[in-house]
Order: sequence, then C-alpha cells, then structure tokens
Amino acid sequence: MIVTTEQLFKHAYGNYAIGAYNINNLEQTVGLFRGNLGKSASNDEPVDPSTSAPFILQISRGARGYTDKRFLEAMIRTADEVFPEVVFAVHLDHGTEEACYDCIDSGFYSSVMIDASHEKLDENIAITRRVVDRAHEKGIVVEAELGQLGGVEEDIVGSVCLTEPDEAVEFVEKSVCDSLAVAIGTSHGAHKFSGSQGLHFDVLENIKKVLPENFPLVMHGSSSVPKEWVDRINTAGGKLKDASGVDEDQYLPAAKLGVCKINIDTDGRLVWCAIHRESFRDTPENFDLRPPGKLFMAAYADYIVHKNGKLGSAGQLAGVRKSL
Ligand code: G3H
Ligand code: 13P
Ligand code: ZN
Repeated sequence: MIVTTEQLFKHAYGNYAIGAYNINNLEQTVGLFRGNLGKSASNDEPVDPSTSAPFILQISRGARGYTDKRFLEAMIRTADEVFPEVVFAVHLDHGTEEACYDCIDSGFYSSVMIDASHEKLDENIAITRRVVDRAHEKGIVVEAELGQLGGVEEDIVGSVCLTEPDEAVEFVEKSVCDSLAVAIGTSHGAHKFSGSQGLHFDVLENIKKVLPENFPLVMHGSSSVPKEWVDRINTAGGKLKDASGVDEDQYLPAAKLGVCKINIDTDGRLVWCAIHRESFRDTPENFDLRPPGKLFMAAYADYIVHKNGKLGSAGQLAGVRKSL
C-alpha cells in the first residue's frame, strides 16, 4: 500500500525513524520489499512481524534517467501486488523544480523532495513554496532542504554548511514544507567523516527546539558504510580507501530529536558491489547474471532487516497499518 511520508512520520515521530532507501533496478526493488517484510531469499517466505517495517522507497533523478522512469513505476506497482502486506511511500529524492512537477503530475509519487538548498535562503523559500502549492493541491507532501551537506549530491558538489536554527524557523513558516532535511554533519557517499567528526546533535537539538511541535526532520547522507562490506569489497579486488559512515547507534538518538526519515543509498551499493565482486572471483566459470542476482537480493534483504533494527522501524508495520 502506497501512503504519504506524512502518514508514516505521524506514527514514528520521536520514537523511531523510517528508512528511506534508493532503488535503481529490479534486484534492489525485490531485496528492499522482501527485507521490509522480514523475508530473505524468496518471495514465498512468511512475513516476519518482529522485523517487518514501513519504509520509504526513494527515486533519484539519476535513477529516473538510468533507463526510463516508466520502468521504475511499473516495477514498484508490481512489487506492491506481489507483496500486498507492505506499507511504503514513493518519494522523489533531490528533485529539481521541474522533476518535482513531473512526479506530482504523474499521479504515482506520494512525496517529493525539492532540493534548492544550493540557492540563497529567499530563493530556496520561493522555489519550495511553488512546489508545495502545486503538490498540496494533489495531496502530495513535500520535503525541502536547508543547509548543505558535504560530498557529491547529483551534479552539485556541496561544501558543508550546517543548518541554522533561526533560518529553519523562517524557512518552514514561509515555504509551508511538510518536512525538512537538515545538514548536521553528514555527507553523501562512502567517505563521510575524518578524524573525530560526527553528527552535530547540538545543532539538531536547537533546530527541534525552535520548530513547530512534532515537525518531521530528515537526515540525508546516513549510510553507515559498514567496515565488513568495505573489507569484503577490497578483499575481492576493490579499492575503497578511507571509507567511513554514520555510526548506526546514532540513528535512534537522532530519531528521539525529531528525525523521522533516514536516507540510505550508499550502503545498498556496497552490498551490491561486494556480492558481485565475490561472485565473479569465486565462480569464474559462471556467466549467468542470475546467480549473483539471487545472492544480492537475499543479502540486500538481510541488510535491510539489520538496518531497520538500528532505525527502530523493525516490528512497526502492524502498528502503522492500524494507525492509517
Ligand atoms: O543523494 C544522492 C543519492 O544517493 C542518489 O544518488 O543521484 O547517484 O542516484 P544518485
Ligand atoms: P548515503 O550516500 O549516505 O547513502 O545518503 C543517501 C542519501 O542521502 C540520498 O538522498
Ligand atoms: Zn540525499
């Protein structure tokens, strides 16, 4: 069942965070749906209520252009039929104004992100407000971003600029966005922190204090870049140096401070890379794409179960269903 992020945030606020996972292809989609139902290697396994979780499926502009955006929609509609127990939102990740309108008009997305965070405050507000007005007319909710993450984000090379609480108040008031992505020290990709850097909980706390009660916050760049997967990639011939991510034990403290949505893309790519590298190394005679594909879907599903455990969303599916 496709719902809005707003419906999911109402249930999660202050207690746990919803995992927002990016997809680009079929194997990621199947692994994601299975994982959120606590299934691993097959669609036919029973749903595990202790691990099943609501989730957000995110589609970036890069994913929409990878083949043809219509394939993604067809794949997701099919997954919704194959796995009728799921509850999820379909969300445009890092949209431009044009991409947001395209998704709003498609009637398929339940949520869009307008990312005008690279613009000056007034312009960011104006662009976001235009998108909000158009989205709300159709019952679609809008995530906006204020502040800049580090690292590479689509075609924008960002330099870290943490969100200012006072600006956040003005931004939310004037843009009327439904949730706000804040910059609190994370960055996209597999190289997030150096030395003793970490999340700025003080900034998060100050933002929460000044925004309206229960206003949902979003944390981008939240992959944990697990050492286990980086080591597996490197042992199988990869060359990922100095990779680092967010400490998974910081997800729940962030959720307690109003972070309802935690974005994970890089970790899924690491799982994909490790499984395929190992498969090519260990079965050099194989040239069928399905054996590594099956291994990946199972490994990704298991990884989603693990991640949802850390986010606190594991086991929340039944409660969310009741709340709808
Ligand atoms: O924030 C960026 C996401 O990880 C999406 O990445 O634009 O390469 O699909 P992508
Ligand atoms: P990661 O690169 O940490 O997975 O972040 C993904 C993200 O923020 C997508 O919007
Ligand atoms: Zn992001």
